[in-house]
Formats: sequence, structure tokens, C-alpha cells
Amino acid sequence: MKILSIESSCDETAAAVTEGRKVLSNIVATQIAEHRIYGGVVPEIASRRHTEAISAVCAEALEKAGLTYDGIDAVAVTFAPGLIGALLVGVNFAKGLALSLGKPLIPVHHLRSHIAANYITNPELKPPFLCLLVSGGNTVIAEVKDYTKFSIIGGTRDDAAGECFDKTARALGLEYPGGVTLDRIATQADREKYPLPHPHVSGGEFDFSFSGLKTAVMNLVNNTAQKGGTVDVPVLCATVRQRVCDMLIDNTLKAALKYGYKTIAVAGGVSANSELRSRMSEECGKLGITLYYPELKYCGDNAAMVGVQAYYEFPDGNTADSSLNAAATLPIDYR
Ligand code: KG4
Repeated sequence: MKILSIESSCDETAAAVTEGRKVLSNIVATQIAEHRIYGGVVPEIASRRHTEAISAVCAEALEKAGLTYDGIDAVAVTFAPGLIGALLVGVNFAKGLALSLGKPLIPVHHLRSHIAANYITNPELKPPFLCLLVSGGNTVIAEVKDYTKFSIIGGTRDDAAGECFDKTARALGLEYPGGVTLDRIATQADREKYPLPHPHVSGGEFDFSFSGLKTAVMNLVNNTAQKGGTVDVPVLCATVRQRVCDMLIDNTLKAALKYGYKTIAVAGGVSANSELRSRMSEECGKLGITLYYPELKYCGDNAAMVGVQAYYEFPDGNTADSSLNAAATLPIDYR
């Protein structure tokens, strides 16, 4: 089954052709350069750029796969969660395409597709496993009971881990996208010295909280500037990265032990973080847990992962008609 998939949930307009877990083409038109001027994603600009790019990106995905529209068997699209205006561009384009071609339309949840990025890189990976999903808008620990069956066992009470990285980077005047730059600069520091709080959540054993850490960073940066001092940027980046990774790793491993999982996958944009990757590998190694990551090019938003998840959604009866709507928020276990 050859699927043309579309992703437009944030600032990448992406299309891909996949067959099962195999990627026949994967095109990503990024808007990063434009949003960089504003230090973050401007939703209205994102929607407009998706509208301009989407036809050409789909045509390129087909061409790279050596196909025409007639050669595909289904159209898949990210419909939730994400920036509503941005999602609507992909959803409406996909609906029109599926209708005109007379092919099935498969709606795909964005976080499910981030998990599916692992299936591309790791052919042997199959459910059940535990997944740490860390992106710019979400931080979730989910049981992947089957390809389309999920159960949330922990999540953030406030900010996502990626947001904490992005806001810290912004306060330090680092280049957008902040998480990537922060990770690179943190690696230049030889220690973590700032007395920042260790994030902690009362109750919810596997929940996260990053807003206190983010506020502490803002206060530290502002107080230092008011006193005429300068922040040691690499050391502050290293401290924040270490605090965030501590909480992500501790909660995930505790959950794996409590729920008896011997396989963990990490997914989402923050799964590209170098400290998270290396420390998780080390800790999982000690516990005899097998750890999976997507290849770096599939960590961020892309449409190949949408097509691979769609391949599993379709036999589960998850198709839509032209009444499909986008949703800005939707839990991963919505169905
Ligand atoms: O999954 P993603 O591409 O988009 C969402 O669906 O949110 O994730 C984007 C997030 C941003 O917060 C970005 O700063 C973060 O992933 N990110 C990183 C790294 N690469 C991307 N955060 C930390 N270290 C990285 N290497």
C-alpha cells in the first residue's frame, strides 16, 4: 500500500510516500529561516507558508518516489494536535486530494506519528513498549500497547521539555530553534554550576513540570543583568539541559520498572538531544532495557512518520471523509 502523507502541524510543510515502513520519498520544506527573525513560530505566517508550499512539496514527494497521483493507494494527513491554522492547510489539501482521486483518507495523530518514526529506523521494533514523547508542545510517557492502542501514564503539568529549552535559549539570545542551539552550546561547558531547582511534582508519580525551572532561568538572567554581571551561557545551558534530562530519564525509567517494560522508545523533536540520548542509553544498558531512537532526520516533524503510522491506522478502520476537521489539542489515546 503506497501512502502519500502530509504534515503541516507547525513550521515544516512536509510530504512523503511510504510503503509499509519503507520510505520512498520524504520532502520537508522548512520555514525556520523566516520564524528566526521573530525568535519563535508566528502561527499566521506558518499557515500562509504552508498554503504556498503544499502543492509543490506533494508533487516533489511523488516525483522522488517515481509515482504520479494515480499510483498512490491512500492519502494520510496530520490532523491533531498542533497550530490550528497550520493543521487546517494540510487537512483541507488532503481532503480535496483524497476526494478527487477517490482514495481513502487516513487521519493521523501527530504524537502517534512521532512514535512511528522509530519504526522507520528500527525495523525490529514492535509493540508493546514504553515511549517517552518529548517535543516542543508535549511531554508524555505512554504505553504503546499496540500500533494504535496507547495509554498515558504521565505527562507535563505545565510546559513541555522543548518549550523549556526554547524559552531558555530565547532569554539567552540564542538562535531559533532554541533547543538545538542550547544543546550544541551546552556541550561546550565543562560543568553545570548554576543553583537551579531540580524539577519536582507532588502526586502524579510520572508527571513532569518544567515551568518552575523556566522561571528560575528567567530570574537568574534578569537579576544578573540588573547587577551588571554576565551569565556564563554554556554553563547555564548545560545546567538547564542536565535538569531537564534528569527529570525525563528518572520518570521514564521508574515507569519502565513499575510497568515491567524491557523496551523503551524515545520520540519527538527533543529525542535529538545529545545528553538525553547518551544518558538514556547508559542507564538503559545498566538495567538491561533495550532503547530505541529515531534517526536524527526523523526526530523533527516530517511526513514519512505520518505515512508509517497511517499504514497501521488504516487496517484498524481509522479513515475519514470530507467532514474531517483539525484539532489544536487531542490526547494520544483519543480512540
Ligand atoms: O517534535 P518537534 O519537531 O515539533 C513538535 O511537534 O513540537 O519538536 C520541536 C522541539 C523544539 O522545542 C526544539 O527546540 C526541540 O524539539 N529540539 C531539541 C533538539 N532538537 C530539537 N531540544 C533539545 N535538544 C535538541 N537537540
